[in-house]
Amino acid sequence: MGGLSQVKRVPGFLGRRITAFLETMNAKTERSRMEKKLPELRSYDQLANEITNRLQPIYEKYITTISTGVMALSLESSVFMSVLCSIFQPRKILDLGSGFSSAVFRIYAETANPKPHIYSIDDAPEWLEKTKEFIAGYQLEGGQFMTWDVFLEQNQNSFDFILHDLGSMVTREMLLPTVLSLVSTNGVVLLDDIHKTNYRKNAKRMVKETGLIYHNLKSYTLDGFNRYCALVTTE
Ligand SMILES: C[S@@+](CC[C@H](N)C(=O)[O-])C[C@H]1O[C@@H](n2cnc3c(N)ncnc32)[C@H](O)[C@@H]1O
Repeated sequence: MGGLSQVKRVPGFLGRRITAFLETMNAKTERSRMEKKLPELRSYDQLANEITNRLQPIYEKYITTISTGVMALSLESSVFMSVLCSIFQPRKILDLGSGFSSAVFRIYAETANPKPHIYSIDDAPEWLEKTKEFIAGYQLEGGQFMTWDVFLEQNQNSFDFILHDLGSMVTREMLLPTVLSLVSTNGVVLLDDIHKTNYRKNAKRMVKETGLIYHNLKSYTLDGFNRYCALVTTE
């Protein structure tokens, strides 16, 4: 980490380029670490191809009729998320930030055994409605939809798979400690938009403080907007 702290002193454009380069180097090391932890990921390209074929037409429809490519979970991250679900076979899924991700989890559930319970949550009721309307067009209505406030009233916990992609980046960071507290003993949390330097720095700190483990997923999830995810695991 000494290298990264040196980068903090390099200003502006150059500092950002060096940080991005170090993240890419770290992502390559992380890919080997992930493959040791999850041997199924050694055949990631093959697993990803099959899922991409299923998701791509629905993704194109979502970003052209309901939302945008900038706001929706990227196709790359969606495919990785779906592959992870097939590996972890979660029973309880928390989809924080409804939208295309809500379709991805329900498409996974179509063939999953055991069938997961899916909770799709948003802080904006209008986006819950748009999501519900979209996925009804694909007969993917299973699971639950509710606002973040209603969700909190239910005192739910022990989620095996959590996507944290809720609201603005301010909301995202503010709610991260709560979200991390909702993961089950062997569960995982996927953090979208971790390419944002400040969010990444604070998220890494919060993950460490909670005793969880942070993984850079740039090598699996980098998209055309230079966005990528991180994965938080409990061991
Ligand atoms: C990054 S988006 C969540 C994306 C979602 N997980 C998906 O896969 O489409 C974060 C929040 O922005 C809001 N949102 C979603 N799409 C939007 C759009 N096209 N324009 C403005 N806000 C949007 C929703 O309230 C959502 O919780």
